[in-house]
Amino acid sequence: MVTEAQPKENEVVSDDKEGDFEPKIIGFLCNWCSYTGADLAGVSRLQYPPNFIPIRVMCTGAVDPVYVIKALLEGADSVLVAGCHPGDCHYLSGNFKARRRIAILKKLLENLGLEERRIRLEWISASEGQKFADTVNEMVKETKKMGPNPIKKEWDI
Ligand code: FES
Repeated sequence: MVTEAQPKENEVVSDDKEGDFEPKIIGFLCNWCSYTGADLAGVSRLQYPPNFIPIRVMCTGAVDPVYVIKALLEGADSVLVAGCHPGDCHYLSGNFKARRRIAILKKLLENLGLEERRIRLEWISASEGQKFADTVNEMVKETKKMGPNPIKKEWDI
């Protein structure tokens, strides 16, 4: 009789189709809300994979679309832009500008033949550590399903 091997205790079992593909996700996090939310997730010991590389910016309105494109060209499989909830931006309208830019970037990705889900915009406040961890976990799962970003440059370092 053949029995299926059971994972050992504490063994991480991957269900992604890409085998050992570990996506790289770049996150542009607003200093006032989402970066603090990420900090809270860490302090609260919430679990999220180490695939996420945070970059602190003063406001999502300061995220030039070129930064996102450059991240995708130079190694990221997905990009998160996260900032204050509408009405809470410390620079009043930075997050509204970001929302418009991300909408345009998503269209651009589609025209390039990429999945628009490779770019995600989220509003994560300083008290939403759990939302931050959930967002990163979802993005890692989603990016594993999509596979590696086909336009990224591979680095040998
Ligand atoms: S200061 Fe957080 S999005 Fe503008």
